[in-house]
Amino acid sequence: MIKICCIGAGYVGGPTMTMIARKCPDIRVDVADINAERIAAWKSDKLPVFEPGLDEIVREVRGKNLFFTTDVDSAISDADIIFISVNTPTKTYGYGAGSASDLSYVESCARRIADSADGNKFRVIVEKSTMPVRTAEVIRKIFTSRGRNFQILSNPEFLAEGTAMKDLENPDRILIGGDDSCEEGRRAIDALVSIYSRWIPKEKIITTNLWSSELSKLTANAFLAQRISSINSISALCEATGADVDEVALAIGSDSRIGSKFLKSSIGFGGSCFKKDLLNLIYLCDHFGLPQVAQYWRGVVEMNDFQKSRFCANVVESMFRNIKGKRLAIFGFAFKEDTNDTRESPAIDICKLLLSERAKLAFYDPKVSPGQICSDLGIDEKDSRVEFCKSACESAKGADAIIVLTHWKEFRELDYSEIIKQMNKPAWIFDGRNCLDHRLLIELGFLVRGIGKGNLS
Ligand code: NAD
Ligand code: UDX
Repeated sequence: MIKICCIGAGYVGGPTMTMIARKCPDIRVDVADINAERIAAWKSDKLPVFEPGLDEIVREVRGKNLFFTTDVDSAISDADIIFISVNTPTKTYGYGAGSASDLSYVESCARRIADSADGNKFRVIVEKSTMPVRTAEVIRKIFTSRGRNFQILSNPEFLAEGTAMKDLENPDRILIGGDDSCEEGRRAIDALVSIYSRWIPKEKIITTNLWSSELSKLTANAFLAQRISSINSISALCEATGADVDEVALAIGSDSRIGSKFLKSSIGFGGSCFKKDLLNLIYLCDHFGLPQVAQYWRGVVEMNDFQKSRFCANVVESMFRNIKGKRLAIFGFAFKEDTNDTRESPAIDICKLLLSERAKLAFYDPKVSPGQICSDLGIDEKDSRVEFCKSACESAKGADAIIVLTHWKEFRELDYSEIIKQMNKPAWIFDGRNCLDHRLLIELGFLVRGIGKGNLS
């Protein structure tokens, strides 16, 4: 029986291994993490990650061929394929602080693998985490310095949160970077291809050299983020000129060379990946003596920050340049719909700015807990400026404005004719996701501001 071990039971490790276990019932999959609380949650009825469809599959395979453990060394010891799926956050200290990747978690995994895995067996180590280009070289040096000759592959993950299970079941492509110049390298690539090809057509499995694979992941995220910043830059011009950003997006996206996806103007991109990976790309460009290239990508991050502050300025400006003491209903805090993840959520910066203007915030998010919101905002749950509500309607009661920060489906389905009755007048809606029916809201009496829509009412 082939044994797979994954180090890191996070948003990537958990769902990815769940899908592998489901598709390969003859393979034993152990997911190991040093975070005991997280592992306990994976073993419980309340998983640490909310993803549509995940619960059902975990229930189906957990305890059969999918196991969660804190015993990292035992999980590593007899595994044939070891995935490294630990976090690679932006470094917050020393050289490269605020830009480079903090590889300490990856390095500690590499050392642990070198120490715990039997060196006599053929083993494949897979970089599943997003790594700076040439990280495989670092891992290899750690192995060879300890007399280990394990094969290293890069197999970045392209799933998006909220659609992870669909993405894992039917990905656009699987990317595997490896060294095909030697027999052992080819054997490693074949071993990983043989896992994925159980459910993914061979033509979707791309094999490249290690460095192309590592760099492709950073580049894919940079391109996706760039599209959002590009359309958001145009949204500012739309507001100044009376054009409608959704109409512009439709018009340009109909050009098959441009394509329609990732052109939804918003309060800016969030999530644990885009900003971190852009910053890492910028760091690498500077490091390799390419400051002009670094500057080009820096613009994508700057435009994203501009979009958030522009949105807040619009709220304050619209509400007669004064939101002090006003109740603002915050609809959504997660960085996107269908996830409980708030990492780098644009809601964090926006709410901090609104609090600095002394507004009172009444939060409702279907999946994010009050504790998480307070921790992200650096405030106490008992802070009198904030309130946590059980429903969107409750948060809108007595509010001067509704601020939509996450694209949750339920916000589109509310009865706004009832909601407006409970609000202070004038009643505002700032739709930071352009997801509501603005025409209807105006008819109901709301003063509506969207993104890239000019003054609607
Ligand atoms: P995460 O923070 O949710 O999970 C990482 C886990 O690794 C944590 O539970 C942590 O306790 C564990 N860990 C850290 N060091 C460890 C060690 N030495 N031994 C055992 N466990 C250890 O992170 P994530 O969102 O799953 O991301 C993981 C990687 O995948 C990152 O490199 C990220 O850039 C990349 N990625 C993330 C996404 C996404 O949507 N979240 C998508 C594609 C790629
Ligand atoms: C992203 C990549 O899409 C995925 O391939 C990679 O593996 C991890 O990073 P994720 O961050 O989970 O996935 O979600 P994504 O759907 O990309 O959204 C990122 C952010 O951009 C969200 O805040 C979302 O609301 C925003 N977004 C997305 C827009 O503002 N407009 C869009 O058109 C698309």
